[in-house]
Amino acid sequence: MSKVVFITGASAGIGKDAALYFHERGWRVAATMRTPAKADWAPPDEQRFCTVALDVTREDSVQAAVNSVLQRWGGVDVLINNAGYGLVGPFEATSAEQVHRQFDTNVFGLMNVTRALLPHFREKKDGVIINVSSVGGRVTFPLYSCYHSTKWAVEGFSESLQFELKPFNVKVKLVEPGAIRTEFYDRSQDRVEAPEYQPFYDQTMVRLQQAGEKAPGPQIVSRTLWQAATDNSWKMRYPVNSSDVLWLRKLLPEGLFRAFVGWYLMR
Ligand SMILES: NC(=O)c1ccc[n+]([C@@H]2O[C@H](COP(=O)([O-])OP(=O)(O)OC[C@H]3O[C@@H](n4cnc5c(N)ncnc54)[C@H](OP(=O)(O)O)[C@@H]3O)[C@@H](O)[C@H]2O)c1
Repeated sequence: MSKVVFITGASAGIGKDAALYFHERGWRVAATMRTPAKADWAPPDEQRFCTVALDVTREDSVQAAVNSVLQRWGGVDVLINNAGYGLVGPFEATSAEQVHRQFDTNVFGLMNVTRALLPHFREKKDGVIINVSSVGGRVTFPLYSCYHSTKWAVEGFSESLQFELKPFNVKVKLVEPGAIRTEFYDRSQDRVEAPEYQPFYDQTMVRLQQAGEKAPGPQIVSRTLWQAATDNSWKMRYPVNSSDVLWLRKLLPEGLFRAFVGWYLMR
């Protein structure tokens, strides 16, 4: 029987591309998404591909999706926690509700799905959990403070979790994309603005949006997700299109690195 991958946020972008990528390579794919009826693409087949409703912020929806996939295919081999979006803008202008929603999706949602699948992985003493973090889980840029907080949380969560799951032969991995051309730079941004920050906001956002527009498409992330899912190693971190900035972060003293980021965005 072919292996099973369970992907969140598969309606678009990285999640959709990864779902099709794993399917092309012979896996069975549970492509989960908030509203399958809204997906603007047809599932490639009914034997090895199913779309399942799942909102990561709702525990009942998560449990129902996990139960239905386990019942359908008898198991899951790899979980890809991919669903996420960015709250972007000056922190001062964000509401508590917006910040909660950001954490509900990017952090607590990812934890909900992980918690729901863990008994299955632990009992069969096998499984791979791949959390889609970001280069923004290792370094920071202005106007993304809330988004960065969620990805830094995902990094810490994953790093600690891998210790406790190792005895059960369950691997925890982090895929850390840099800019990737998806709807992340468009409808998946919850943007806030404040007049006091406007000149800085305008200049910085132009640079950050340009990075997204010029970036490679999601297939390079799918390739890395595939590698993380199949290399059978205990390697934890898989940067994608982010090695240069991570290398600079490692090489430069902190102050110099921050000066570089400031220069890059405001030049
Ligand atoms: N693109 C980049 O430059 C980049 C860089 C680093 C990391 N990432 C990370 O990559 C992941 C995927 O982003 P993307 O670039 O592929 O963006 P995208 O094209 O906007 O896709 C985001 C996906 O997340 C889903 N989602 C949002 N909230 C959800 C919820 N509550 N429950 C279930 N699904 C939910 C969206 O579903 P709906 O269709 O229902 O809205 C959509 O399928 C995110 O975690 C993001 O932080 C992206």
